[in-house]
Amino acid sequence: MQRLILPLPGNEEFAAQLAGLCGGELGAVETRRFPDGESYVRLHGDPRARAVDIVCTLARPDPGFLSLVFAADAARDLGAAEVNLVAPYLAYMRQDKRFQAGESVSSLAFARLVSSTFDRLLTVDPHLHRHPALSSLYSIPTATLHAAPLLAGWIAANVAAPLIVGPDEESEQWAGSIAARIDAPHVVLRKVRRGDRQVDIEAPDLARWRDRTPVLVDDIASSGRTLAAAAGKLTGMKRPQCVVVHALFAEDAWSQVSACFERVVSTDAVPHPSNRIGLAPLLADALLRGLRD
Ligand code: R5P
Repeated sequence: MQRLILPLPGNEEFAAQLAGLCGGELGAVETRRFPDGESYVRLHGDPRARAVDIVCTLARPDPGFLSLVFAADAARDLGAAEVNLVAPYLAYMRQDKRFQAGESVSSLAFARLVSSTFDRLLTVDPHLHRHPALSSLYSIPTATLHAAPLLAGWIAANVAAPLIVGPDEESEQWAGSIAARIDAPHVVLRKVRRGDRQVDIEAPDLARWRDRTPVLVDDIASSGRTLAAAAGKLTGMKRPQCVVVHALFAEDAWSQVSACFERVVSTDAVPHPSNRIGLAPLLADALLRGLRD
């Protein structure tokens, strides 16, 4: 039976692409607030005996999270055979440890909430740092897709003689994989985070790469301080470019980051003016394969 694809508000365009690519029916989720601020949710589309894929990227998740839970619950209650979460960006992955006494390990708490609501989770490049895989956080089956091949393809098509630069040790996984795919050199800088909006970056001597265009790659641009500080270390080189997977660009991040680079592009995991790399084909393929990696 045809899948039913239900976008939460803000995800309609991505969901329409998915539905077109995997032959699913595109439904809708109507949401509004009651006068007291509580959430009203109504599904448009018949979930009975069907695989229902609820599409909701999870950038800035707090205001809409209950609507997402209510939509999933309604789909199940109305007879869905399975209810899946398609979240191109997965939130709450970075507080993966209790750094100070009394802190909530929100990555675990959020994983428990999502796991109690959905049957399966499909996402792209979740920020796995201290956890090796989503299966160590989530109790439901998960499919983790990777945007590196698409980032590599964009760089190969748009930047001559690139030097792939990762801003910190964690980015080695993306920088190394992208560089290998397009036969380009890569370097990884060193980052010490001093606060939410304060990072220090150290770079090795990059003089031998002066004839190349540095392309900074990272999974997430949030406060933008990592990318801005890294760009500041690329002095004496060609003006850098930047490619990120998840364009959160919180507060003033976009103006800070865009001023540092010749060009900043991102995937459409999070809707943003910098989006140039579409992920719908990658996710549609996973849906057609039954949500396996
Ligand atoms: C963390 O280590 C990630 O890979 C990113 O570098 C980080 O989340 C970016 O955060 P911000 O934009 O706030 O510096």
